[in-house]
Amino acid sequence: MTNPKHVAIILDGNGRWAESRGLPRIMGHKKGAERIREILKACIKLDIPYLTLYVFSIENWDRPTGEVKYLMDLLSYYLKEEIANIHKNNVKLKVIGNTTLLHEDIQKDIEYGTNLTKDNQKLTLNIALSYSGREEILMATKKIAQNILDQKISIDEINEAFFAKQLYTDQIPDPDLLIRTSGEQRLSNFLLWQLAYTELFFTNTLWPDFSIDDFLQAINNFKSRERRYGKTK
Ligand code: IPE
Ligand code: IPE
Ligand code: MG
Repeated sequence: MTNPKHVAIILDGNGRWAESRGLPRIMGHKKGAERIREILKACIKLDIPYLTLYVFSIENWDRPTGEVKYLMDLLSYYLKEEIANIHKNNVKLKVIGNTTLLHEDIQKDIEYGTNLTKDNQKLTLNIALSYSGREEILMATKKIAQNILDQKISIDEINEAFFAKQLYTDQIPDPDLLIRTSGEQRLSNFLLWQLAYTELFFTNTLWPDFSIDDFLQAINNFKSRERRYGKTK
């Protein structure tokens, strides 16, 4: 099989990486953020056109205030630091999730970055931030209900394609491959609609240790699979 067109990653294990070294959890986040640049580069090299990264879930807001603050500062730093590099590499930045919960400054940085890179063609870097799959599905449902109340559409027009168009990921194909690091084997509320037929790859490697070789291993594993979509061979 060919390379996946869309790779989604649940980058997990930052806290455990730090704790196992007797470091504060935030050091794991710092190290983890550095991995993103390498994986993005690898995707560009492999001609993978879509990369989606789960970096902060809605549920993560309930972590201790200090950790949330550090994560937000890190995010703010990287948005500012990396945007020029992203743009230079012809990468289009997109953020999915409930961004209204983010600090105003971060919302502005996101707006700036997405605007600056909106016409870039090489790769779409989709960052899931303050994201919840269930909330996304509810939001789509409410939009559709409103359309019906406003008599803009009829119930018969609601099909899978129409529903998918109401999601954050409109215009983005469903992920072909989902990678989750750190040994956890669950979705943690990530892309619940979009992952219906995605190939899943779990590795025990913690995100801050996840190397290009680990990434290539996941891609090769994907290429060896047979996707049947419920049909026979
Ligand atoms: C993933 O690492 C990053 C975020 C969820 C923000 P974790 O912080 O979940 O690390 P573990 O799972 O506790 O090791
Ligand atoms: C999922 O990881 C969210 C992100 C990686 C951003 P968590 O560490 O928050 O998920 P659980 O708590 O192990 O399910
Ligand atoms: Mg975790």
